[in-house]
Amino acid sequence: MADFQGYLVIFLLGLISIVIVKLLIKSKPAKSHLPPTPFALPIIGHLHLLGPKPHHVFHNLSVQYGPVFRLFLGSVPCVIFSSSESAKELFKTSDSAFLDRPRNSCMDYISYGGNSMIFAPYGSYWKFLKKIVMSELLNARTLDSLLPVRSYELDRFITFLSHKAKDAKPVELQAELMTMTNNVISRMLTGKMCTSEGDDEGVIRRIVTDIGEVMGTFNLSDHIWFFQNLDVQGVKKRSKEIRARFDSLIEKIINEHEEVRNEIKRKGEVKDLLDILLDISENECMEIKLTREHIKAFVLDIMGGGTHSSAISTEWALAELINHPNIMKKAIEEIDQVVGKNRLLQESDIPNLPYLQAIVKESLRLHPAAPVIQRQSIVDCSVGGYQIPAKTTIFFNVWSLGRDPNYWESPLEFRPERFEEKQMDVRGQNFQLLPFGSGRRMCPGSSLALMVIHVTLGSMIQCFEWKAGKDGNLTSVDMEEGTGITLPRANPLVCIPTARIDPLPLCM
Ligand code: HEM
Repeated sequence: MADFQGYLVIFLLGLISIVIVKLLIKSKPAKSHLPPTPFALPIIGHLHLLGPKPHHVFHNLSVQYGPVFRLFLGSVPCVIFSSSESAKELFKTSDSAFLDRPRNSCMDYISYGGNSMIFAPYGSYWKFLKKIVMSELLNARTLDSLLPVRSYELDRFITFLSHKAKDAKPVELQAELMTMTNNVISRMLTGKMCTSEGDDEGVIRRIVTDIGEVMGTFNLSDHIWFFQNLDVQGVKKRSKEIRARFDSLIEKIINEHEEVRNEIKRKGEVKDLLDILLDISENECMEIKLTREHIKAFVLDIMGGGTHSSAISTEWALAELINHPNIMKKAIEEIDQVVGKNRLLQESDIPNLPYLQAIVKESLRLHPAAPVIQRQSIVDCSVGGYQIPAKTTIFFNVWSLGRDPNYWESPLEFRPERFEEKQMDVRGQNFQLLPFGSGRRMCPGSSLALMVIHVTLGSMIQCFEWKAGKDGNLTSVDMEEGTGITLPRANPLVCIPTARIDPLPLCM
């Protein structure tokens, strides 16, 4: 009897084991189609793994889990990508599946309920915006017509630096570059208001900085369901307050524009981007009626997207040059040879300055202003053999891609010569270098940004030598990254400029 009981127990245990093994075997293939994932905690998922620099966390996890892996940020399913192969699939082969951006409560306020181009869901409104951006607002013709605005602001910047050089005074470059790019963008957008109302420049700059900060805050309400209706970190409150500030400013600017538009049309004066948008809003033949809210959201897009990123990129590039005097010397030699010392470098010189272009590419490789691209899958699809369900938040780690030893020899070395050896564009066609993203949702401001970065950096090294530190006695500068939605330096670059040529008689 005891034997029989023993056999029965063994039989039952065996049966259970077989069922378990069968179940495991059955469930394995389904599991293996999803990207690997670290151990997740209840409720918070992998939130505890995140730090103030998500691109670093994603990079370190990719070393452990591979170039495609899954995380749960609270209850939000995310997949993180970082390889060139996955970039090609995401942004080219399967581009149509990844054309949305994830929504969050902060962006709902800031973007006037998803009416901005950056956050608009993929659909007829986004397509309409894309069309007018490419054909009217940021196309070569409009950018050419606004060249005098950019040249004027650059001259103003160089004149400011020249005064500092005369007094041997240090310059905090992050703040000054930000002012310059902010002026360029806001003048191109809204023209007259900056010349007539100096104060507005400061207000816009503050708004852009505040937007960057609030967008860079990781909002628990968007990730943990029981915080959904609470504003524990005050993100919604701050977003509402920033939008209210922007709204009253942009209302004033639009009203001013409306008052003088007929005059501008009559005189045939150059239109700024807001004039063009107002024209489009009055055009009854357009497939979508552009409302005042749409215009405001779009103006904020361009200000937010265009200001910090170009300034930060120029600052990183100059910091690299200060740390690599040989590269700086070679860049100056090229400029002296092509441009000379009797006139200031201009945008039209850039095609003839391949080494300067290589420096900017190399700097964007190591310091992409948008280190992580965010998208959302629209439908179920597969990338790299893994299943990616619809409504998954996608993070593509551009920062990691630029440091991948599989594509880049000595990836951490700043060596612009690598771009002399291999011709490589940064506008979304080379899937090893994607500072402006790629595919249909890639950055529409890349041409403008590259013009501003090249001409600003080029003029700064044509006109001045740069001594690092408040007293000008540092031989190198630290390259520590700060936090934020863009990739700022942790410690702003402070330098004393010394004039190489006197730029004042050469400015307009
Ligand atoms: C160094 C400067 C800049 C960098 C590194 C940069 C980078 C990026 C990146 C990575 C994206 C996302 C692309 C994607 O999803 O594939 C993006 C989108 C965008 N950028 Fe830029 N950008 C810069 C300058 C500008 C400028 C100057 C403007 C406007 C004047 C601008 C306007 C936009 C807009 C409107 C989008 C959203 C496009 C969409 O969702 O369809 N950006 N940018």
